[in-house]
Amino acid sequence: MSEVHVLSHPLIADKLTRMRRETTSSQDFRQLLREISLLMGYEVTRDFATKIVSVKTPVSEGEFPELSQRFITIAPILRAGIGMVDGLLELMPFAHVGHIGMYRDEETHQPVEYYYKMPDHVEDSVIIVVDPMLATGGSAVDALNSLKARGCTNIRLMNLVAAPEGIRVVQQAHPDVDIYVAAVDAGLTEKAYITPGLGDAGDRIFGTK
Ligand code: PRP
Ligand code: URA
Repeated sequence: MSEVHVLSHPLIADKLTRMRRETTSSQDFRQLLREISLLMGYEVTRDFATKIVSVKTPVSEGEFPELSQRFITIAPILRAGIGMVDGLLELMPFAHVGHIGMYRDEETHQPVEYYYKMPDHVEDSVIIVVDPMLATGGSAVDALNSLKARGCTNIRLMNLVAAPEGIRVVQQAHPDVDIYVAAVDAGLTEKAYITPGLGDAGDRIFGTK
């Protein structure tokens, strides 16, 4: 079974509380999401392997670690996942970005894929799938299915807020994918919104509705 990492660092918790507040503007919401994504990035990448290389400094020579795997793909689930990309790119400017377009049907709450574009040879990459909300888990499961159907194996999932139901669904469908979240909330409303949550993440990021 995969691991669930709840990243309850005080700075992350404080920023998330500000995002939850319904009076927070889109501008502040976007900025806070970017900052949290950068902070979460430290933990999501904590187990990345390093190899030892020789380096000649201006003073002498030494053996030092560098990342073994520099092919890293950040894969936002559109739209809201886009809000988590810049923070991770600040941390890893060399990373690639691949997009998975998916929306939840408002009646059925089932995800519908409308776009998929990954870098060439993405199957050789470490992939960080990002989406602020893990509610029923349907969108995340479908996104992970899409990647695996194209040969991807080294995948982790990074969400801001998750419902316990969504975590269970992803763990059952993808027991090899570790999940990183800033908070696990109480549950889902009858409209499959996370409660207390923060509302519709896409609308709050982009100022729609
Ligand atoms: C939201 C969110 C996730 C999905 C989570 O996207 O960003 O992708 O819902 O819900 P689930 O776990 O029940 O599938 P939404 O469908 O609102 O699309 P948007 O990002 O374009 O607003
Ligand atoms: N999508 C959102 O944006 N928010 C939720 O609470 C659930 C799904």
